[in-house]
Amino acid sequence: MAILPPAVQGQIAAGEVIERPASVVKELVENALDAGARRVEVRLAAGGLDLIAVRDDGEGMVAEDAQVAFARHATSKLARAEDLPTVATLGFRGEALPSIAAVARVRLVTRRAADAGGVAVEADARGARPAGAAGAPPGTSVEVRELFAETPARRKFLRSAATEVGHVVDVLTRLAVASPAVGFRLEHDGREVLAFPPVADARQRLVQVLGRARAADLVPVEAAAGGYTLTGFLAPPRETLASARLVWTYVAVGGAGSGRWVRDRLLLRAVLDGYASLVMRGRYPIAVLFLGIPPGEVDVNVHPAKLEVRFRSPAAVHQLIVPALRARLAAALAPPPAVLAREVAPAYAAPRVDGAPHTAPAAAAQAPLWTPAPRGFASLRFIGQIFDGYLLCEGEGRVVLIDQHAAHERVVFERLRAECRAGGIARDRLLVPETIALPAAESAVLAEHAAALAAAGLEGEPFGEGTFLLRTVPGLLRGRDVGALVRAVAGELVEEGASAAAERATDAALATIACHGVVRVGQRLGAAEAQALLASMDGVEVSAHCPHGRPVAAELARTQLEALFRR
Ligand SMILES: Nc1ncnc2c1ncn2[C@@H]1O[C@H](COP(=O)(O)OP(=O)(O)O)[C@@H](O)[C@H]1O
Ligand SMILES: [Mg+2]
Repeated sequence: MAILPPAVQGQIAAGEVIERPASVVKELVENALDAGARRVEVRLAAGGLDLIAVRDDGEGMVAEDAQVAFARHATSKLARAEDLPTVATLGFRGEALPSIAAVARVRLVTRRAADAGGVAVEADARGARPAGAAGAPPGTSVEVRELFAETPARRKFLRSAATEVGHVVDVLTRLAVASPAVGFRLEHDGREVLAFPPVADARQRLVQVLGRARAADLVPVEAAAGGYTLTGFLAPPRETLASARLVWTYVAVGGAGSGRWVRDRLLLRAVLDGYASLVMRGRYPIAVLFLGIPPGEVDVNVHPAKLEVRFRSPAAVHQLIVPALRARLAAALAPPPAVLAREVAPAYAAPRVDGAPHTAPAAAAQAPLWTPAPRGFASLRFIGQIFDGYLLCEGEGRVVLIDQHAAHERVVFERLRAECRAGGIARDRLLVPETIALPAAESAVLAEHAAALAAAGLEGEPFGEGTFLLRTVPGLLRGRDVGALVRAVAGELVEEGASAAAERATDAALATIACHGVVRVGQRLGAAEAQALLASMDGVEVSAHCPHGRPVAAELARTQLEALFRR
């Protein structure tokens, strides 16, 4: 037996913290934020393999600290174990700089505002050494080169430069959402990839991050109980994703700052439960939640990369989040009729002056006229088809509009799912297997989920580079373009990520099959077909949303209609 040499020890320990270029960026930007930076600038070359440079205008370090910072467990953020439960900084383990140096060549230049000039330190797997005085503005800049040059196993594991830059964008975006007052900028190979100038609050940061249209749809949510606090923003359930990519959860101890981004099953579960019945299983909403937790109720030191936390009382967290989300979403989806009666009418009463911008009533954004129609489709009277894709129907005290494609898709999806559970869906064996050209990543994800796809009626296997050989098609799709279908399924699965559970993969395939197999918008429907579709809608489990999470039907109550005409 032998104790490993320090350089190897360092590389092994670094493996837990530094997985890819984005991990380097995360650690360096967290340090910049902990140092009180107002601007953080990240530059990458070749996806981060040639260069990762992070510059901040934070407080900087004195010369001695700049070198000590590369020692394992050197930190200025924590002195005693007792302080751990209340730690408010993003860092505290003193592991980032030594871990980065263990797997790359690092040059750090730092200057405190009070000092006349800066100092440089260079570090690699063999240790850190002073590199003399350096002219620099106040703040710290760290340049990382030759990442994983000496750990080829790790280097081989990395994906294309574009993928690595994508991970960096994710990391920076998550950090930026929690620090709106800080400006962030990312450059790759000399081109600007992202720029978020400093703004006043989280909502404005979300405008930068999600775009004006999506951000305008967000409703704020707030709650507090037993020392826990919740603030955040919820997107309406009509827009959902195949992954939890845009469910962002942040945890702050004692409510200090906006906290750290964490991926946590309990928090995700709570978000999904809050959206329950509004978002289909296997789909995810867009939501940003900031959770403030009393000191001692959460352990942030669970994961070397500090991406996970452990709650002492998971039930308290769940009970804070779920009812708050439910109440807020219910309020956002239901229009208060009194407000409509008051505010809609004047828009029609006063004739618009030509050229004057049309201003929507203030309440319109929060209180849509048309709300999701929950049930009772079979009893509706079909009046006609409008805009070549919507069914206009009359019911007891309400008018209902139905998106024929979304509705049919939902019905077919549920039928396929039932068939699938009952032992496999009906399929046709192709006389000549169909060869489908695909990007390599998509062909790989299809191979990985072969069993789940077979359950959905798509049996086949990869056939050489970038080709998939399809042997069976679901009976529903007889005579349709199965190539387009398989490519769409592969696209969904790539978005779900490699780790998607088999059941989710099957659902994604069934949703896509349903989408490809049903009536399109623009297709004429006769009264009998329309009535048959309405009847079949009542049999399905959740009739208010199509498998992709879009609303299927919307209704206008008679009272709302009458309010429009001031009756
Ligand atoms: N950008 C920076 N500005 C000022 N000080 C920094 C910066 N980066 C690192 N440091 C100092 O170096 C120490 C070690 O950093 P790090 O290895 O990331 O550990 P941690 O952040 O867990 O303390 C920090 O505690 C901090 O004092
Ligand atoms: Mg750190």
